Amino acid sequence: MKITVVGAGAVGATCADNIARKELAEELVLLDIKEGFAEGKAIDMMQTTALLGFNTKITGVTNDYSKTANSAVAVITSGLPRKPGMTREELIGINAGIVKGVAENILKFSPEAIIIVISNPMDTMTYLALKSLGLPKNRIIGMGGTLDSARFKYYLSLALNCNPNDLQGFVIGGHGDTTMIPLTRYATYQSLPVSDLLDKETLAKVAADTMIGGATLTGLIGTSAWYAPGAAGAALVESIVRDEKKLFTCCVALDGEYGQNDICLGVPVTIGKNGWEKIIDYQLTEEEQSTFNKSADAVRSMNAVLKEMKLI
Ligand code: LAC
Repeated sequence: MKITVVGAGAVGATCADNIARKELAEELVLLDIKEGFAEGKAIDMMQTTALLGFNTKITGVTNDYSKTANSAVAVITSGLPRKPGMTREELIGINAGIVKGVAENILKFSPEAIIIVISNPMDTMTYLALKSLGLPKNRIIGMGGTLDSARFKYYLSLALNCNPNDLQGFVIGGHGDTTMIPLTRYATYQSLPVSDLLDKETLAKVAADTMIGGATLTGLIGTSAWYAPGAAGAALVESIVRDEKKLFTCCVALDGEYGQNDICLGVPVTIGKNGWEKIIDYQLTEEEQSTFNKSADAVRSMNAVLKEMKLI
């Protein structure tokens, strides 16, 4: 089995590192446009094999897509990251062209690949892949909600002073500071509703912190985060290659689910060997549905830019 990660920046390299350590494939190709960059990162990672004991062969390549041939999964992280004060949405003009080109090149050599999109603005980049590649919708997965849900559990764990692994919780909607929807009502601490354990104000603060989770890190680090985004990408790859059918929130094409059409947005889906397999329909309250619809409107207006750019 071969897996490709496109973009050897911090997110791509971290994703590749996680994939290798988990031995999700025999072969892992890391590709970047910057001469020698992916090669260097791949060699650095390969030099950890004797220390960490994994058996995945990592190859770095400069823009040579022939080396990615027959990949089962391709993770796209290409494009510019956010700078402090910047929204994910502001990246659309630069990243859309890059992501489209990358996805087309991947498919030229790996026509059966499942595509995981991480590049921002992630919901719009996922929609771009859906509209421009002509693939079955199940093979296009945007990573955003997986990361946002992990951040949600992190902030919940701080509020509850508990282990994040004991928490269940989903963030649906868009992967934007104002478009994501942490579903506090459904979050549990080992089956116990967190709303029984935390007061309304604390829960509201957890949700607010989650929504600006990425921006908070961009402010602290000076660029976009990478450990959790990379790990989130690898978690999806794992569920695909091991056919785990685990439930994640991912950005996928909606055909009437959650009341939306012709859009890619974060909803709970099972992830297995066919890509995303089944959307789980959480019954939203009227208020949650209306927030979800607003999130869809915001993403839709970003998607319109793709048409203006004549990319779809
Ligand atoms: C973040 C970027 C990866 O949320 O979207 O950190």
